[in-house]
Amino acid sequence: MPDNLQSVLHPAGWDAAIISHFAWVMFGAGTLIFVAVMALLLLSLRRQERPARALLWIGGGGIAFPVVVLSALLGWSTWRSAQLAPQSSKDALTISVTAKMWWWEVRYHDPATGREIVTANEIHIPTGRAVYLGLNSADVIHSLWVPALAGKRDMVPGRVTGLTLRAEKPGIYRGQCAEYCGEQHAKMALHVVASTPREFEAWLARQAQPAAPADSTVLAQGREAFLQQRCQACHTIRGVAEGARLGPDLTHVGSRMHIGAGTLRTHRATLQGWIADPQAAKPGVFMPGSQDLDLATLQALATYLEHLK
Ligand code: CUA
Repeated sequence: MPDNLQSVLHPAGWDAAIISHFAWVMFGAGTLIFVAVMALLLLSLRRQERPARALLWIGGGGIAFPVVVLSALLGWSTWRSAQLAPQSSKDALTISVTAKMWWWEVRYHDPATGREIVTANEIHIPTGRAVYLGLNSADVIHSLWVPALAGKRDMVPGRVTGLTLRAEKPGIYRGQCAEYCGEQHAKMALHVVASTPREFEAWLARQAQPAAPADSTVLAQGREAFLQQRCQACHTIRGVAEGARLGPDLTHVGSRMHIGAGTLRTHRATLQGWIADPQAAKPGVFMPGSQDLDLATLQALATYLEHLK
């Protein structure tokens, strides 16, 4: 399966498979009924029925047939919906996701230390296990939708909603905010990375570590620039400056595939461009630019952030 797939037609999760099956059955039934009605319409144009037989057609085709077909589809869809993943289960892994304009904060509970592990725009999950996402919003209404894995769920400020994901195969599944939430709604993407339970545990253990040390001159310069430019007013780097929650946690930003919620691939060059002028890549984003920074400092800062794997 190609990476970054965002398609309801290629289900890779429990709920997505049910939804896809459901859609195909409805589409098939709708097609059959449409063809039958068109055939009857053509027939009626060609011959005149006696009034008694016309009444039979109206009663049968206009009342009995829809009652039977719609009742059957209603019963079947109710039975099928009951098979969707339950909204909570004791052995599900719980992850908190908070939508913000225009990115996703993702929080894990570290069983080893009891602390929270905070990351952004990437939800890593183990395969073959139910994962319960507790959903909330910090500002306006957003909606989480990862079509290959599950249905859509609104994220409403002041209210916790939930969605259960269950990926059957390892892969990277793209998701998108599905509720208009302002200027950069379109650039509010996320990726669900499903890996084997063992790989997931290894990933979580790496994320629980504090930021990689700045063990060279240029990295030390980059870390110094981070503090000098007061990046820590919005961003946390665990082990360097903690507490800020306005912008994404950058402790392991170099390990993520993208910056700016799917806007750019993570690379020293894109980080440098983003820091200098984030408005160029994502107009309206709340991060201020740093165009007055000299090139050497900008490069050191980007090198340092890329190093935070
Ligand atoms: Cu968030 Cu649209």
